[in-house]
Amino acid sequence: MMKPVRVAIFASGTGSNAEALIKKMQSLGSAVEFVFSDKPAAGVLAKAHALNTKTYVIEKSQGRAHHEQEVLRLLFEHKVDWVLLAGYMRLLSADFLKKLAGRHEGHSQVVNIHPSLLPAYPGKDSLERAFADKVEQSGVTLHLVDEGMDTGAVLKQVAIPLKGFNVFGDFKASIHRLEHQIYTEFLEQIVTGQIATHSFKETIEC
Ligand code: GRF
Repeated sequence: MMKPVRVAIFASGTGSNAEALIKKMQSLGSAVEFVFSDKPAAGVLAKAHALNTKTYVIEKSQGRAHHEQEVLRLLFEHKVDWVLLAGYMRLLSADFLKKLAGRHEGHSQVVNIHPSLLPAYPGKDSLERAFADKVEQSGVTLHLVDEGMDTGAVLKQVAIPLKGFNVFGDFKASIHRLEHQIYTEFLEQIVTGQIATHSFKETIEC
C-alpha cells in the first residue's frame, strides 16, 4: 500500500485555496497535516478549524532566520513531504529551501499558486494590475518555489482570455475557481502517486 503523503499548507490570508485543498484531501480519505500561518488574524485559520484541521501560527518576532528555523522545526516534527503555499505572503530563503530539500533527497517539494501567467505580473495585486492593463489574457500558474518572488520552475499554466469580463469581480472569481481546480488536481496527483513524492527522511544522507 502507498505511504500516505503528508501535506502542510502555508497561508497568510483568506484561505479559499487552503479550504479547497483541505476538502480535496478529505474527499480522498486523507487529511492535511496542518495549516501554518504567520498571521494570527488570517481568515484561513477559521476555515481550517471548521474543517477539523490543525493550525499553527508563528509570527515573525525575532528576524527572518529565527522565524524560518521555527517553521522548519514544525515541518520536521510533522515529517512533512509537501508544502503548498496558498497566499503565503513571505518569501522563503534559499537556506530554508535547501534544508527542507535535504530531507527529500535534494528535491524541492514546495509549490505555490499565482494568479497570473508568470513571468507576467509577479508579486502583489497581479489581478488588479492585469485587469487595469487590459491584457488579452490572464491566467494561473502553479510553480515550484525558489527564493525569488514567483520565479520558480513552472509546473502548470492555464490561460483565461480577459475579453468578456467587464467587471473586475467576475474576472477575479473566475481566476480563483481556476486556482482551486488546478491546485486540487495537483494535490490529487501527489496523493495518488501520479506525481512521485520523495518522502521525508529523518536524517540527511550525505
Ligand atoms: C491567490 O490568488 C493565490 O494565487 C495567491 O494568493 C491568493 C490567495 O487567495 N498566491 P486565498 O487566500 O487562497 O483565497
